[in-house]
Formats: sequence, C-alpha cells, structure tokens
Amino acid sequence: MAYIKELEQFEGKEVELKGWNAQKRDSKGLVFMTLRDGTGFVQCVINLDTVGSDQFEAAKRLPQESSLSLTGNVVKDERQVGGYELQVTSLKVISEAEENFPISPKEHGVDFLMDNRHLWLRSKRQWAIMRVRNEIIFAIHCFFQQKGFVQMDAPILTGNACEGTSTLFETEFYEEPAYLSQSGQLYGEAMAMAQGLIYTFGPTFRAEKSKTRRHLSEFWMIEPEMAFYDLKMDMDVIEEFVRSVVTTVLEKCKSELAIIERDTTYLEKVRLPFIRMKYEDAVSIIKGEKEVNGKTTLQMLEEEIAQLKAEKEQVQKEVDGREAKINSGELKKGEVNFNRSKVDQLKNQLKDIEEKEQNIPAWLNSARNFKRGDDFGGSDETVLTKMFGQPVMVYNWPQEVKAFYMKEDEHDKGYAKGVDLLAPEGYGEVVGGGERETDIERLKHKIVEHDLPMQAFEWYLDLRRFGNVPHSGFGLGLERLVAWICGLQHIRETIPFPRSYGRLLP
Ligand code: 4AD
Ligand code: MG
Repeated sequence: MAYIKELEQFEGKEVELKGWNAQKRDSKGLVFMTLRDGTGFVQCVINLDTVGSDQFEAAKRLPQESSLSLTGNVVKDERQVGGYELQVTSLKVISEAEENFPISPKEHGVDFLMDNRHLWLRSKRQWAIMRVRNEIIFAIHCFFQQKGFVQMDAPILTGNACEGTSTLFETEFYEEPAYLSQSGQLYGEAMAMAQGLIYTFGPTFRAEKSKTRRHLSEFWMIEPEMAFYDLKMDMDVIEEFVRSVVTTVLEKCKSELAIIERDTTYLEKVRLPFIRMKYEDAVSIIKGEKEVNGKTTLQMLEEEIAQLKAEKEQVQKEVDGREAKINSGELKKGEVNFNRSKVDQLKNQLKDIEEKEQNIPAWLNSARNFKRGDDFGGSDETVLTKMFGQPVMVYNWPQEVKAFYMKEDEHDKGYAKGVDLLAPEGYGEVVGGGERETDIERLKHKIVEHDLPMQAFEWYLDLRRFGNVPHSGFGLGLERLVAWICGLQHIRETIPFPRSYGRLLP
C-alpha cells in the first residue's frame, strides 16, 4: 500500500491506495474520482474497458465518502494538484457510505458546518489548515528544544486564578471549588526556578461570554519562562521565536497555504525587525496625534475607504458584464455555468468589501476617541498595525490594565514591564508577556488590590522568598497564530473541535 503524498516515488509503477471518495463525476465509460487518503488528494481515472463492467458500475454508484482501495498506474500529469494521476486497474469497496453525505462541494452556512465539524474536518481546506497547525506545533517545539528549554506541564485543575477572576471556569475538586487553568504561567515561574529555561504547552480556558472571531473558551498556549531575563531579553526571544516559526511554516507548508489561497506578502515581513514602541507612543499614533511615514491613522483610514470604493465599482462592473452575457442567450450551457459560478464568487467578494467598508467608520471613531490609559480593543490593534503592515510590539503598559504579577518599571512609575505582540492584517494580539514582579511586598499589595485570596498565592510568594531572581516570559495563543498564518477570518477553523460560547458539540 502507498500514500498519496509519496506518489512521486512510484511514477510509472503500479500501486494500491486506500482512502475515501471525496468527489466524483462520470462521462461515457469513465469515472473521475478524487481520492483522499489523509496524506493528500489525487485524481483517479476508472475506465470501463480496463476494470470491466462490474467494478465500473460499482464505482459509478459509489456515494461520496465511501471508503475503497484502488490499484492502478501512477502517471505524471502537470495539470493535476500534486502533479500525478492514478489510472485504475482494479478497485475494491471497503464500505459503501450512506447517500447524502451532509457536506457537498457546494456552499454551506457556517452554523451548519460547525454542527458537522466531525465531518467538515475531511474537506480539503480544513485538511490543509490542520496540516499547517501541525507544522506550527512542530516548529514551536523545535525552536525551544534547540535552545535548551525544557518542556514542563502545568496543571489544568488549579486552586487560584492567574489572569483575573472574570473569565474563570469554575469546577469542583472533591467538594472544593477549583478552576480550569487560564494560563500555566505561575507554575511556569516555579519550574523556571528549578530548570532555568522552560516552556509549557497545554490547553487553557477562559470563560468569554461573547462570540468574537478571536476568542475561544478552550485554547492552546505556549508559555516560556526564563530565569535571569529582563523585558528587553524577553522581547528579543518573542521576536526570534515568532520569526522562526512563521518562516519555517512558510517554507514547509507551501502547498497547504496554496490550497487555503493565503497571500503571504505580509507574512514575509516577519523577516524584518519588528517595530517596538511604548504604550504611550502607540496611543499617540492610534489617536492620530502622531504620524507614521508622513500619515496619521485618520488619513490612512480615509484613503482606505476611497480604495475600497474603487475596488467595489470594479467588481460590480465585472458582475454586470457577466450577467449581461448570461442573459444574452448566446452562451453554451457550460459557459453559462462557468459565468454563474464566477458571478457567485464576485458577489462574495463584494460582500467582503462592503463589510470592510462598514468597519472603517467604527474604527475611525474609536481611534479618535481612544482614552489614554485604557487597554486596546481589537479595532485599536488593527488600526495601529495597519500603519506598519508588520508585527508591532507594544510595551510599558499602564499598570491598571495588566495582571497582578507584572513588574513596575522603576524608571517609568505607574507602567508595567509588559509587552503585547500585535500581528498585522487585523489579527492583533498573538503574544502577551513581560517581566515579573520580584518585590514580595509589592506583589502582596497587588494581590490584595486585585481582590485575590492571599492564601492561595502563598506558594507563589515562596518563589520570591527563596532564590528570587529577575525573570520574564510570555504566552503565545496557538490558535491566534494559526489564524494569522493561514489568513483565516475566524478562529473557529484553527482547532479540530472549537469550544466557544454556545458551542460544546460535536
Ligand atoms: O495575554 P494573555 O492573557 O497572557 C497570559 O495568559 C500570560 N499569563 C502569558 C504569560 O506571560 N505566560 O494571553 C496570552 C495569549 C494572548 O496573547 C492570545 O494570543 C491568547 O493567549 N489568548 C487567547 N486565544 C484564544 N482565545 C482566547 N480567549 C484567548 N485569550 C488569550
Ligand atoms: Mg493579553
């Protein structure tokens, strides 16, 4: 038995493939089947004259997602995805699927697809996204392992909050209240005091009672923690890490990114040095008080509105042209179908443009009225990164908007040595981190101020009592990174079975 991804090695030879009928059409004496086997997709040609009428009729009848084994000759064909075709000499059905597999090649609504996530995962685009996710995970481990970081696992059931109490999932632990971990960080700090350089990589949980395109209730986070590192060193690691993972994935996932139709122009810019700026400077830019390359955010957004308008007119013109052709009655049936599907595509494009157009006034408004001292919202991050078109690191945040464990900057009172990495193209925060508070009295004060139970943090305070050292770390949300690299509109497609507000099945 062979796998589709290794067909190259079998050119001109006979192989057996086992897989599923992803799609099929037939014409006189021929069935064209797209077989998928988990490693890829390949067109298989079943010829009546070669396989005989019994097998041919079986193939012709076979519903979508039936499983089968196909034996045939591997032939090079540049026009095919993957570059090869299987000319079938015999086939054997393993299991004939029921008729009406819910997910056909036609368009489906998102809720329907989410309800059928267990089947949707088989479609080509979802298959490609999961392959990219896998490659990202591998690249993450490679990066840290090569640098001598030790992977250590933080518990999921915890007795204390890490990232504020408003997003805690509460559960019960032998009649005692317990929480699902929001972050492995506090444990990461303890483990770094034992091993120096560590990273955790596990599921984390946030009760976010809203549906957004960037939030999941269950997501995977990579959290390195480094003894003897300050904020500057932390930012250097973030930059090197993100650059390394993105460039590796760009190289190794070319065909998957092509299936997803990802334009990688902006992604390539991770090769440039990341922009770094303090929160106060970022605010001045967002509010339009400070220019970037001779332009304010307000000018940039107005230009974008004009650009979208022009784009819309262009697309509309093409729709009108094609519709006129369809209605002229001069086209053959095949040409009509071709133009119809083009028109559908263009109309979707129009919808996208209109959605963007509608967003901009809201962005403009919130940028103008941004209150200095507030945390950034998604639109503020979008507006800021649009000015650069590449990753931006914002550091030294007002202490009030950041977690209790952040170290205050001794030269910049009132500001915490925290950093967020914002991805361009509207993806926003993908990393949050910073230098940790080492002063035990200040930490105790912050625990009280944040209304956290002191007793549950005694073990954490021990890290300051015994062998206290400057240390830093960060957390990268895996799904946010997958969404950015794949260019996805919504985070729900980045994880096999997303958990978000209102979604616990399948
Ligand atoms: O900024 P956050 O809340 O930081 C922490 O949890 C720190 N304890 C990390 C550390 O320093 N060790 O979360 C870190 C990252 C965010 O930048 C984002 O990428 C992701 O986790 N994230 C989410 N991803 C998906 N859905 C959510 N609800 C997320 N909340 C945070
Ligand atoms: Mg954050």
